Amino acid sequence: MKFYEDMASAMENLTKRGAFLTVKNNNVVNTMTIAWGYIGYSWNKPFFVAMVRPQRYTQELIKDAKDYTISIPYSDKMKEALMICGTKSGRHIDKEKEANIKFLPSQKVESPVVDDCDMYYECNIKYIDVLDKEKFPQELKVNYPSDDYHYLYYGEIVECYKK
Ligand SMILES: Cc1cc2nc3c(=O)[nH]c(=O)nc-3n(C[C@H](O)[C@H](O)[C@H](O)COP(=O)(O)O)c2cc1C
Repeated sequence: MKFYEDMASAMENLTKRGAFLTVKNNNVVNTMTIAWGYIGYSWNKPFFVAMVRPQRYTQELIKDAKDYTISIPYSDKMKEALMICGTKSGRHIDKEKEANIKFLPSQKVESPVVDDCDMYYECNIKYIDVLDKEKFPQELKVNYPSDDYHYLYYGEIVECYKK
């Protein structure tokens, strides 16, 4: 499907209850909950832009990974799994086991998707940026009490589909 076809629902559900950002680096797979992100179009390509704080285990894995996936549930059935993956670190737990989720092979990238979600984006990482504290307006600095400014992962959407 076209990257923009289900964009309103994808963004609504991403921001309302969260989604899984899943990364595979060598043989290690981890997923974490995200609620901030962008679907857009740059350099004549569709992109998802994911925001990852420096202290996340995900950051350790994604910084030199090739790709990542976004798996978005459109209902509350993954609520508990999103909570676990959004509050516990893959450094300390096996999220597949503890959150009772299942990783499934993706169609075009090495990072897997999370089974039983409704919308999937498979993304090849093309550009990495980090937010600049000096350019941040005072009113938004409340989001960074520990100065943990996000890394931005521009992932070219190479495949997207509904369950
Ligand atoms: C609803 C929700 C949304 C979140 N969104 C983000 C996000 O966009 N970026 C981020 O770095 N952390 C976000 N987090 C926090 C991470 O998911 C959380 O710190 C997680 O335990 C990191 O896992 P990891 O250490 O295995 O990477 C969110 C958490 C929740 C519950």
